[in-house]
Amino acid sequence: MKRILLGISGGIAAYKSAELVRLLRKNDYEVRVVMTHAATQFITPLTLQALSGHAVHTQLLDASEENAMGHINLARWAELFLIAPASANCMAKLSLGIADNLLSTLYLAAECPVYIAPAMNQAMWSKPVTQENLNRLQQHKVHIIGPETGSQACGETGYGRMSEPSDIITQLGVLSAPQLLLNKKVLISAGPTHEALDPVRYITNRSSGKMGYALAQQAQLLGAKVTLVSGPTQLVTPKNIHTLKVKSAAEMYTAVMQQVVGQDIFISAAAVADYTPEKLQTEKIKKQDDNTRLSLCKTQDIVASVANLPNKPFTVGFAAETHNLERYALDKLQRKNLDMIAANWVGKVEGGFDSDRNALQVYWQNGKKTFAMTDKTQLANQLLTLIAERLNA
Ligand code: PMT
Repeated sequence: MKRILLGISGGIAAYKSAELVRLLRKNDYEVRVVMTHAATQFITPLTLQALSGHAVHTQLLDASEENAMGHINLARWAELFLIAPASANCMAKLSLGIADNLLSTLYLAAECPVYIAPAMNQAMWSKPVTQENLNRLQQHKVHIIGPETGSQACGETGYGRMSEPSDIITQLGVLSAPQLLLNKKVLISAGPTHEALDPVRYITNRSSGKMGYALAQQAQLLGAKVTLVSGPTQLVTPKNIHTLKVKSAAEMYTAVMQQVVGQDIFISAAAVADYTPEKLQTEKIKKQDDNTRLSLCKTQDIVASVANLPNKPFTVGFAAETHNLERYALDKLQRKNLDMIAANWVGKVEGGFDSDRNALQVYWQNGKKTFAMTDKTQLANQLLTLIAERLNA
């Protein structure tokens, strides 16, 4: 759990801080809140106390707080310091080192990375003095998140809207993650494939795409340039990730082979159909009186095709098994010429298909590692950290 100090300065966007605190906690941050006097005019400290689970700090010189957790202790406690919203006045103070309230004093005392999400009227944002303050803060290694453009509370339109809380958290993740895959090109396949029988029917499997999408998002957080080839899923297309949507195994094969040139890593998390109907019927197949048979032919093995390219990327396959997990996974590692295979149990167990959680047994030549049951986001991060380690080994 990361310790984050959230500073709230005075502005109408302070109302979004309640949602920000809720989402930060949901994303495994321990949150302490500090507010300026002006911020308390927009949202009550009690609301933020209830959401963060801790008393909110507002006073620079408060005898009781100095005894319990004075500003130096609070600054030392923080692993990250986020100021959202950061008003024009707040930015001006920070940029000049004016420490006349608790928030701006904490900025001077904090040695951890600092992130600010500015929020103000568009004319105030574009004023040269605000831009000078912004430049000074950037020179002082403060990370800036937003602001966004759009309609503002004052009725005007332009830059100055605070970024949405969910976007702030994504950016925090991007800016604070160790850049283990910095500038690496990573291609990931995700989801099921649909193998059409006729205009209304197809053969598929239970893959939701969650594992592959989590890998794509985590790889991006670790600094990679990610391309995602996705089979049909209900998931929202990830922001800022080059995503190609395909339906069938044949389409996925074409997309992967087109994208693979120049990639450093390929991770085949998709549950690609092993067989497809031999012939696509152009009209709906009519019901018969008797049993019927489907004639299927093998699809091309995408991950094996990539692993046998002359300049192949570091190639990671998955193995989804209901029994003999280790034996089948090791067989696939050898037979498909993979650099690594991540094996998971599927069927009547927790994890695997269409679940938010999963566990993995990962194998490579002369090595193995087990990742215990956890949510797919965390698991993706663990697997990518291992891939980065093996890539550099
Ligand atoms: O999508 P979720 O609901 O989050 O579920 C995640 C998952 C269970 C689908 C995922 O973790 C997983 O195991 N993906 C691989 C599923 C699979 O097809 O496994 P397999 O053992 O049948 O295939 C072995 C490997 O060959 C896989 O990397 C697969 O992508 C690849 N393959 C298979 C057939 C084919 N024609 N081309 C391939 O590239």
